[in-house]
Amino acid sequence: MRVLVTGGAGYIGSHTTLALLEQGHDVLVVDDLSNSSRESLARVAELTGRTADFVEANVRDANALESAFASFRPDAVIHFAGWKAVGESTQVPLTYYRENVGSTLTLLETMARHDCHTIVFSSSATVYGELSEPPFTEDAPTGATNPYGRTKHMVEQILADVAAADDQLRVGVLRYFNPIGAHESGRIGEDPKGIPNNLLPFVAQVAAGRREKLMVFGDDYPTPDGTGTRDYIHVVDLAAGHLAALDFLTEHDGYHVWNLGTGRPNSVLEVVNAFGEAAGMEIPYQIVARRPGDVASSYADVSRAHAELGWQAHKSVADACADTFRWQSANPNGYAQD
Ligand SMILES: NC(=O)c1ccc[n+]([C@@H]2O[C@H](COP(=O)([O-])OP(=O)(O)OC[C@H]3O[C@@H](n4cnc5c(N)ncnc54)[C@H](O)[C@@H]3O)[C@@H](O)[C@H]2O)c1
Repeated sequence: MRVLVTGGAGYIGSHTTLALLEQGHDVLVVDDLSNSSRESLARVAELTGRTADFVEANVRDANALESAFASFRPDAVIHFAGWKAVGESTQVPLTYYRENVGSTLTLLETMARHDCHTIVFSSSATVYGELSEPPFTEDAPTGATNPYGRTKHMVEQILADVAAADDQLRVGVLRYFNPIGAHESGRIGEDPKGIPNNLLPFVAQVAAGRREKLMVFGDDYPTPDGTGTRDYIHVVDLAAGHLAALDFLTEHDGYHVWNLGTGRPNSVLEVVNAFGEAAGMEIPYQIVARRPGDVASSYADVSRAHAELGWQAHKSVADACADTFRWQSANPNGYAQD
């Protein structure tokens, strides 16, 4: 299959591009490199012995997208491109609506012009908001609590509307829980710019001595050890979920939503301890006040992805910590050193 991957130079996109190339698919990455570097794709080529085509462009750039579709003629699109920092989205909401919602409109219009009828979209468990208790099934009520989450929720609704109006369209919405880890080679991984927003990259930087200690936001939640619990999904398992969704969509039309998680909650302190074991050291941390907007617990009901896609997570938090430590140790400055 010929797959156009938006945001394919990024964290999840690079791991999925690798999996696509390994499975024999042809890939064109469209990425504006606003949060990534081409080095990730150079390393994907080194690991797979195959090269993804690359166009440096914003997905909102209709002319660039038009010529990418005309020359590559994709059978399907995986749409990762977007901005993803919850805190930042409350500061610059218009940027989030433009980059996340605007880019999707341009993409869907270009797909329609080029008879490309299959799209897999990166959504997020953040769409479940605070309206129900975990484990979340895909039918749980949705309603995000911040601009980032609302962009994801809006794009889901746009995709559902477009699929209802166009019976050729095949849409797979993947609601990721908390992606962590790195490829086991240690050659590709998460390379956040500035202060990491997510737990594992932050812990990894503490272990590497780049940050003094981890702040743990709250230890008085109604969870076994009082710290928040999340469903941490290894990025290599997540990448495999995209291939399973593409496979499903070759056989089924319409609009489909799947949770991608492990179905198991792990607490902040469990992750900190697992990383300490992988790194052979104690991770210094300090308990501070709860962070506004954080929920006590979020984890997936993964039965639909298992039943419909034949997909499930195989890797553990310990695997993810070992892989992140390997990536971080070999690349203390991410991709920047090359
Ligand atoms: N990492 C997570 O915790 C997480 C959780 C749930 C959902 N998601 C979603 O998954 C997707 C991928 O996330 P990631 O962690 O790999 O992030 P990332 O920032 O590493 O990757 C996103 C990529 O898209 C590119 N990009 C951003 N806006 C663009 C635009 N308008 N045009 C072209 N390229 C653009 C960036 O340069 C980057 O390479 C995002 O849509 C994100 O919202 C991520």
